[in-house]
Amino acid sequence: MNLIGVIGGGTMGAGIAEVCAKAGSDVIVLETKQEFADAAAARISKSIGRGVAKGKISQEDADAAVARVKVTLDVADLADRELVIEAAPEVEAIKHDIFAKLDAVVGEKTILATNTSSIPIIKIAAATAHPERVVGVHFFNPVPVMPLVEIISALTTAPETAAAVTDYAKNVLGKTTVQAGDRSGFIVNALLIPYLCQAIRMFDSGYASAEDIDAAMKGGCGYPMGPLTLCDTVGLDICLAAAESLYAEFAEPHFAPPALLRRMVDAGRLGRKTGRGFYDYSA
Ligand SMILES: NC(=O)c1ccc[n+]([C@@H]2O[C@H](COP(=O)([O-])OP(=O)(O)OC[C@H]3O[C@@H](n4cnc5c(N)ncnc54)[C@H](O)[C@@H]3O)[C@@H](O)[C@H]2O)c1
Repeated sequence: MNLIGVIGGGTMGAGIAEVCAKAGSDVIVLETKQEFADAAAARISKSIGRGVAKGKISQEDADAAVARVKVTLDVADLADRELVIEAAPEVEAIKHDIFAKLDAVVGEKTILATNTSSIPIIKIAAATAHPERVVGVHFFNPVPVMPLVEIISALTTAPETAAAVTDYAKNVLGKTTVQAGDRSGFIVNALLIPYLCQAIRMFDSGYASAEDIDAAMKGGCGYPMGPLTLCDTVGLDICLAAAESLYAEFAEPHFAPPALLRRMVDAGRLGRKTGRGFYDYSA
């Protein structure tokens, strides 16, 4: 598999395009407007350039990787792709529309993958005439740095489809892969979100300070960052959306978003990106 399509050149799509191009694949990124296409191309070349500055890639290899990426506004340009990875906004109607269009353009053997964090893969697969070639490939942010890719098989995904994307992620991109079922949160968020919610409940109860909760989990468990710092880094709105999605799926109390999380999102205290969350970043 060497001809790759990426739908959307935002945070995740640009990162996915970057790792594929650096691994030697030919990449076409689909965007919706010229200004977004230009922004996507700039995002990809800037990020690859940072690798040169850090001494992780030579200028020659970086130039070759940048040259392997094209950005287009025309879905028909994806006709020859062997694998298309969708990283458009987390809106079911948008993803349905994209997969229906891709289904009409690409060959029957092309694998169609989605990077969705929370939409059931089967709902996206159902928009196509060949749901057996639709699979979830969940990368983590920032894609060039985070080693994990969760591979999610829907009830209709053919084993060969999951095997082919696993092989590409592992052996071409050099990622660590895990196989997960088509359930909200997959593996990582199903385990991480209850932990973060429990840390918020502990803080809200007055049992321990934010600093002590974070210091405890760093020093006692060897985690690189404490849970409340992690909430601030991920974004409290993203944590809330993930908890809501898990609670809607399983209706188990440990997935229920804590009231404090909701109130902080209502207050616009979303963490680092707004300057305030559990900690103050305004200084
Ligand atoms: N940001 C994260 O940390 C993260 C992590 C894992 C998975 N995800 C998932 O990845 C997907 C993308 O998230 P993101 O954070 O990169 O979003 P983003 O908003 O940064 O990027 C989305 C891009 O898609 C483009 N787009 C919109 N409609 C399109 C269409 N019809 N065709 C082609 N391009 C279109 C937009 O112009 C934008 O550039 C979502 O499904 C999200 O849930 C995000």
